[in-house]
Amino acid sequence: MKPTVYEGTMASAILVTGGAGYVGSHTVASILERETAPDFEIVVVDNLTNAYRAEGHKKPEAIRIIEELTNKKISFYELDLSDKQGLSKIFEKHSIECVIHFAALKAVGESVQKPLEYYQANITGTCTLLEVMRSYGVFKLVYSSSCTVYGEPERLPIDEGHETGRGLTSPYGKSKYFCEEIMKDLCTSDQRWKIISLRYFNPVGAHRSGRIGEDPAGIPNNLMPFIAQVAVGRLPELMVFGNDYPTVDGTGVRDYIHVEDLADGHVKAVRLFQQPGFSGFHAVNLGTGTGYSVLQMIAAFKSASGRDIPYRIVGRRAGDIAANYADVSLSHRLLAWRATRTLEDMCADTWRWQSNNPQGFKSS
Ligand SMILES: NC(=O)c1ccc[n+]([C@@H]2O[C@H](COP(=O)([O-])OP(=O)(O)OC[C@H]3O[C@@H](n4cnc5c(N)ncnc54)[C@H](O)[C@@H]3O)[C@@H](O)[C@H]2O)c1
Repeated sequence: MKPTVYEGTMASAILVTGGAGYVGSHTVASILERETAPDFEIVVVDNLTNAYRAEGHKKPEAIRIIEELTNKKISFYELDLSDKQGLSKIFEKHSIECVIHFAALKAVGESVQKPLEYYQANITGTCTLLEVMRSYGVFKLVYSSSCTVYGEPERLPIDEGHETGRGLTSPYGKSKYFCEEIMKDLCTSDQRWKIISLRYFNPVGAHRSGRIGEDPAGIPNNLMPFIAQVAVGRLPELMVFGNDYPTVDGTGVRDYIHVEDLADGHVKAVRLFQQPGFSGFHAVNLGTGTGYSVLQMIAAFKSASGRDIPYRIVGRRAGDIAANYADVSLSHRLLAWRATRTLEDMCADTWRWQSNNPQGFKSS
């Protein structure tokens, strides 16, 4: 028989915080595409600070489209994680078995300007969630962490044994590190907790349907959405920060991972909760193990889209590192997961999403 994502009680629910956002929505899609249990449900909580809901609709666009694509219903609550009472009501109403926690603010530069807002949303929000989980006897959590917790790499590829927390420059990166530390302490204090912290490398790409994808508000912070917006004519040119790094062509190298592979990694993490004897805190890298430079990304996108990508080399950006890519052996061993999609897939899927939806979800 095909394994379901979650073989819990009859009416099991997975709570997905931030499920209307980029990685969260693709994970919700991936779970629903695989889940076969009849009474299983997905419950999404999102305050819509970084997700779009069209006028007159109850659910954000990403959620509405996933319902269309999968022909399954998703329970949606517009709620901020700091609303402990509201969150408790959701735990009263649904039979929640485990939580996948995406909700956070994520713009590194903005976090330097607004540290309190970032600590409030990312750390206090996480503590509130953990408190409510504990009071309802829910001890299984998959957490969205980041390779940012490693700071400047001492070795490459970076494995999970690499030190974390040293030399972190942004409140965003620190918030991810602090949350991991809080979760480790929690697991030490109470053996019932099972927490998997997934350290993402650089998520890119879009659902293969081209109907959901990354939809950054304002000027994108990340390379791929920036390239895509240049290709579609929304932005005039790309700025490449530095071409004098000790890398293959002087530009920064990162480990890009297709968001659908990343989403599948969450499905595998949820399945791991069912393994007898599994408990405690586990940090796992999700990447491909291969790095590509900025110029290699531009070339790949140009070929996938057939569009020219005008770019200009400018000086290095403070805080950027030369290269970063993951040691992915633990994800293979522990999660039985590996990324299967190629750089061509990442570019083709991003382009399908961007060219079908030049203004993001507002176009759909
Ligand atoms: N995308 C990346 O490059 C990347 C890399 C590493 C880690 N992460 C982490 O993955 C998670 C998801 O990232 P994403 O790219 O999908 O971001 P996103 O902004 O698209 O999604 C986050 C969602 O959470 C919601 N949200 C934010 N604060 C909230 C709060 N206090 N209460 C309720 N909802 C709230 C937003 O409205 C949004 O829909 C984040 O925790 C992020 O830090 C992302």
